[in-house]
This record gives sequence, structure tokens and C-alpha cells, in this order.
Amino acid sequence: MSGLHNIVILTGAGISAESGLRTFRADDGLWEDHRVEDVATPQAFRRDPELVQRFYDARRENVLAAEPNAAHRALARLDREFSGELLIVTQNIDDLHERAGARHVLHMHGEALSALCLACDARHRWTGTLLGAPGCPACGEPAMRPDIVWFGEMPYEMDRIFAALTRADLFVSIGTSGAVYPAAGFVQQAKSARARTLELNLERSQGSAWFDQTRLGPASELVPAWVEEMLR
Ligand code: APR
Repeated sequence: MSGLHNIVILTGAGISAESGLRTFRADDGLWEDHRVEDVATPQAFRRDPELVQRFYDARRENVLAAEPNAAHRALARLDREFSGELLIVTQNIDDLHERAGARHVLHMHGEALSALCLACDARHRWTGTLLGAPGCPACGEPAMRPDIVWFGEMPYEMDRIFAALTRADLFVSIGTSGAVYPAAGFVQQAKSARARTLELNLERSQGSAWFDQTRLGPASELVPAWVEEMLR
């Protein structure tokens, strides 16, 4: 596709499904087994920190055991070879984009392999457990929480995301249901900046009507084929 200078790619749980990481809203999704109010809100953390820490400890282990798939690798290739500006905005807390080699990745909902200290605001790469309230490596306080954006909290780096959407020529959404804002509203932002819009997903998302084009299928097939087209 010629004449493209700025691409913004939004990814969701669907891009990591074929790496064995559960999505949220499928029949076997995470929210089938856990109530959001019990594990993914600041109120839940105050009420029962052990339950929340146990939930994210398990997700951290899953992330460490997972491997990037063909979709992650294809986006990493596009990131390397595309001559223009590219930003991957992911709602995912896994590090599979980076492990596949992508460099321009922004985690708007936080990261499973990061712990945030509530006492000194330091962030630490964290691969172990947070159960038992280990001390913060910076200040020593037993005040660390998963570095995850919970429901009711502001996603990270929204200014940077909106700036990229305003400059975008092309906005691509991969593996997301379009059920959660503000991410679900990015397609409208991009359209108002006259970007072309493309959706790659297993099924139509809640925002499908906003996209110029929707391609349905597994990410491991759709994304490499699309990247091939882009770099031809
Ligand atoms: N390939 C492509 N798309 C897929 C695949 C696949 N192999 N498997 C599932 N999908 C699609 C589903 O059809 C669905 O539309 O991925 C989407 C996953 O949707 P959700 O489970 O709702 O996940 P996501 O959109 O990432 O959720 C957004 O909600 O729970 C919060 O913070 C959490 O970041 C998350 C946000």
C-alpha cells in the first residue's frame, strides 16, 4: 500500500489466543471463571488483595510459559521493515509482541511482568509471586501491586496514543471484541483523522461497522497475509 506514513495497530486478547493465553469474553474466557469486581478493580484489591494477587500470579505464570505466534512475528517484521512510523498499542498484558521482536509497543492496560509500588511509585520487572507482600526493591515497603490498569482506572499513555491516532493514515484492529473503552473508540478517532481502517478478527467485533474493511479468521493466518501485502 503506497502513500502510507503512519500506522497505528491496536491488538487485543485474540492475537495471543493461539499462544495459549485465554481471551476474556469467549465461552471459555477469563471472565467466565472470575468476576471482574473480584479481581480487576482497585476496590477488589483493597477488599481482598490475596485473591487479586493469586489471580495475577497465575496470569504471570501463563505469560512466562507462552510463546509468540505467527501473528506476533509478522507484526515484528512489519515494525522492522516498514519505512514509515508504526505504533502497536496493545490491550494485552503479555510480552509476546516484544518477545517476537517488535520495538514500538505501548501497553495501555499495563504488563503482567511488572510490579508497581504504591509507596514510592517505582516499577520493577517481576516474574515471581506478589503473594505475601514482598518488599519493594527500591523503598522496601510491602506495598506492591500488579502493574495492571484495572476497570475504573485511566489507561496508560493516552496522550501518546491520541497523538498517534491523529497522525495515522491507517488504523488496524486485531483480535479485540471492541467491548471496552477507550480502546473501542480508537477507530472513530482514526476515522475522524481520515485514516483508512481495517479489522482482522475471528468474528465481527462490536465496532465492526466503523471499519472500512473487516477480514475474518485466525490472527495467525490473517496477520502474516496482511503484512505480506503491506511490504510487497
Ligand atoms: N484470532 C483472531 N481473533 C481472535 C482469535 C484468534 N485466534 N481468538 C479470539 N479472537 C477474537 C474474538 O473473536 C474476540 O472478538 O478476539 C476477541 C477477544 O475479545 P475479548 O476477550 O473481549 O478481549 P479484548 O477485546 O482484548 O478485551 C479488552 O477487556 O477485560 C478487559 O482489560 C481487559 O484488555 C482487556 C479488554
